[in-house]
Amino acid sequence: MCGIVGYVGGRPCKGILFEGLRKLEYRGYDSAGIGVVADGRVEISRSVGNLDNLELILSQVDDAGTTGIAHTRWATHGRPSIENAHPHTDCSGRFAIVLNGIVENYQELRAALQGEGHVFSSETDAEVVAHLIERAYRGSLQDAVVEAYRQMEGHFSYCAVTADEPEVIIGIRKETPLVVGVSEGENFIASAIPAFLAETRSVLFPDDGEVVVVSRDSVRVCTLEGDPVDRPAKTVDWDDEAAEKAGYETFMLKEIYEQPAALADTLAERIAPDGRVVLEGLGLTQEDFRGLERVIIVACGTSYHAGLIGRHALERWARLPVEVEVASEFRYRDPVIGPRCLCIGISQSGETADTLAAMRLARRRGAKVLALTNIVGSQATREADGVLFTRAGLEVGVAATKTFLTQVLAVLLFALHMGEKRGYLEAERVLGLTGKLRRIPTRLREYLESDAVRGVEQAAVRCASQRFFMVLGRNIGLPVALEGALKLKEISYVPTEAYAAGEMKHGPIALLEEGSPVLVVATDASIYDKLVSNVQEVRARGARVIAVASEGNEGIGEMADDIFLVPCTDEMLSPLFGVVPLQLFAYYVAKARGEKVDQPRNLAKTVTVE
Ligand code: AGP
Repeated sequence: MCGIVGYVGGRPCKGILFEGLRKLEYRGYDSAGIGVVADGRVEISRSVGNLDNLELILSQVDDAGTTGIAHTRWATHGRPSIENAHPHTDCSGRFAIVLNGIVENYQELRAALQGEGHVFSSETDAEVVAHLIERAYRGSLQDAVVEAYRQMEGHFSYCAVTADEPEVIIGIRKETPLVVGVSEGENFIASAIPAFLAETRSVLFPDDGEVVVVSRDSVRVCTLEGDPVDRPAKTVDWDDEAAEKAGYETFMLKEIYEQPAALADTLAERIAPDGRVVLEGLGLTQEDFRGLERVIIVACGTSYHAGLIGRHALERWARLPVEVEVASEFRYRDPVIGPRCLCIGISQSGETADTLAAMRLARRRGAKVLALTNIVGSQATREADGVLFTRAGLEVGVAATKTFLTQVLAVLLFALHMGEKRGYLEAERVLGLTGKLRRIPTRLREYLESDAVRGVEQAAVRCASQRFFMVLGRNIGLPVALEGALKLKEISYVPTEAYAAGEMKHGPIALLEEGSPVLVVATDASIYDKLVSNVQEVRARGARVIAVASEGNEGIGEMADDIFLVPCTDEMLSPLFGVVPLQLFAYYVAKARGEKVDQPRNLAKTVTVE
């Protein structure tokens, strides 16, 4: 989820590229850099931290070049540092690249290139691209970019320049955005339209596997084989803010739609060809895996709900007792913790004060601590023995969506890994589950592009004037219900209660009256029949039932007023689908009520105070 921008034209490009980066800062900001082709070389300027630091460095650099590429980084491989900031260059410094995405086979490529004498200066996956281009270059940057592309696995887009062809930028994409801004006597290329919207509204959208050759007076799009592709530019009428949201009406909706990509990024390289889960940086030895006696998960809000899902998976697959604690409560208890205990702090920001305090307490009492976070370099990563990163990219909407889904995926991967290491999961079972996990991003994308979303929106509009919602779930569906209820509370301000469906008869059912809306999460196959009984109970009290069910269980629709069908998968993986219609439902209820979805009242994105 980095931002890239390139310019070729008649004007000095340093300032233009910098302004482009400013517009992309919302995509990531742990380091940034610019590479300008001038005087027979590519002049690289890079800095760590926000763009003000880069601006300082650029003020000391000549403004001669008119071709350049720039990047703002959201770290995935390698910590934020000058060396890891883009652009990356080859051994000679003649070629420079900026990349957005993940090169999954970079370790293999890097080892081969090192074996041939290439010297690397960063820890990133992206640097291999510069060296691959250097190796392939025989007088045509376009050919070298294509040759590099053919050897790379993963999902990425990148742009390359060389001092040998000073007036051209070559760009290419694979399942990662890349757009071209077309103008008079100058052209732009970027990962998103805001980068050049101030300069041109004429935009060309290349497809996967197409090469874009951008020069001062032309933009050519070709196939990998070099055949021309006819891709006329379109005019966009977005304003700056709309462009940052890539045409979505809010960041939250955009982020809901980014979930398939965020899941794919979080999965990348973590499933080996034989189906095993590969997780690095956990800070756990084989002895730890075998010797652990207990896990305590500490977190707040949405991250706590991801922890509840983690409990189900760790108990089932790794046979470990797990407690999940709200961090703000745990930190004031006097918990019994020993060295055979693992504390997992889940925090998308890695900066939540209560979660950090709970992790510190566990550490003081002898537990190993693992941080599960989305932010490289955050406080949680500095205080833990190991880190498991989600790769959701920057989340702007206060209501967490894509960070939640990637947290769920990460805890599931961790539980599979533990189960295998501890000898409770056979290779065949892991292979079956990781095979299903691999398919989830594509299946979720298909769901989000289907008419099902319209059905959720219509149901939400019908319910928008309700004064109260109840959300029921059971087993692994309960955390999904809790998360759906939190979304409704946060952005629509409608009082909402989530309950274990089996608890209804013990009190909450008294709340129901004719027409009370009750959402039921019925995606977990193991307790589907029980949920059907619960649906009948609430229906008998006149409730309006909205069921979230897996494809194949359409039957529940006969008892429900609305049914949100999601793709069917293993019950332990079902939260990855089940929560999405609830996010959408909350979103459309809030929208119908005219609420400001991205900035809910009284809330902050990161709670760094107690
Ligand atoms: C979720 O929509 C909320 N924004 C909130 O509950 C959040 O999950 C909580 O504050 C924890 O944040 P963290 O993951 O950054 O620690």
